[in-house]
Amino acid sequence: MSIFPVCLLVCLLLVQVVAPETTEESEKRFREFVRQHIIEAMEPNDCTTVMANRSITKKVRTKDRTKTNETKGPKKTNTFIIANENEVKAICHGQTGPKKIRSANKFNITVCNLTDEGRYEGTKKYYQIIVVECENNLPVHFHDQIKGNE
Ligand SMILES: *[C@@H]1O[C@H](CO)[C@@H](O)[C@H](O)[C@H]1NC(C)=O
Ligand SMILES: *[C@@H]1O[C@H](CO)[C@@H](O)[C@H](O)[C@H]1NC(C)=O
Ligand SMILES: *[C@@H]1O[C@H](CO)[C@@H](O)[C@H](O)[C@H]1NC(C)=O
Ligand SMILES: *[C@@H]1O[C@H](CO)[C@@H](O)[C@H](O)[C@H]1NC(C)=O
Repeated sequence: MSIFPVCLLVCLLLVQVVAPETTEESEKRFREFVRQHIIEAMEPNDCTTVMANRSITKKVRTKDRTKTNETKGPKKTNTFIIANENEVKAICHGQTGPKKIRSANKFNITVCNLTDEGRYEGTKKYYQIIVVECENNLPVHFHDQIKGNE
């Protein structure tokens, strides 16, 4: 085999791997992010209702790790940012990414944790800096919250 076709193949594979997500894919991930992490208003004792209402679950795999065996199970912890969509979207303004970004503004959040009884217990946290993954100017993944010094 000559070098050229091999290079071509490798190059094509590389392009596939590093190709940035399309705007359409990022938009889809953003909608999913909104469903899981943004709410206009919420009190800690709304956690169980909201988690159920928005069908927030996580993928659970059995030991053989095949996709056909994926089921859905309860998520252990989920954070809701109490804000409107545009306020959260602004964090990623000008960020084509994919990149982890800390918000310049602080947000109030509610963290919902699963209890042994299968309900969710909420904790409200004030003035948190949030860390999200930005892609094509949109937040697509929630990483973390950091206590702002205020
Ligand atoms: C649950 O979802 C329904 C329909 O989408 C909505 O009308 C209702 O207000 C929601 N309840 C809560 C507590 O979010
Ligand atoms: C899931 O995994 C079990 C154990 O490996 C296997 O017997 C079963 O057929 C799998 N189910 C599906 C839907 O693939
Ligand atoms: C956070 O909550 C406090 C107390 O309820 C409120 O005064 C403040 O406006 C909220 N901040 C944001 C960014 O929502
Ligand atoms: C909720 O779960 C997170 C992650 O497991 C943990 O760090 C946090 O302390 C828990 N909060 C409460 C109030 O249990």
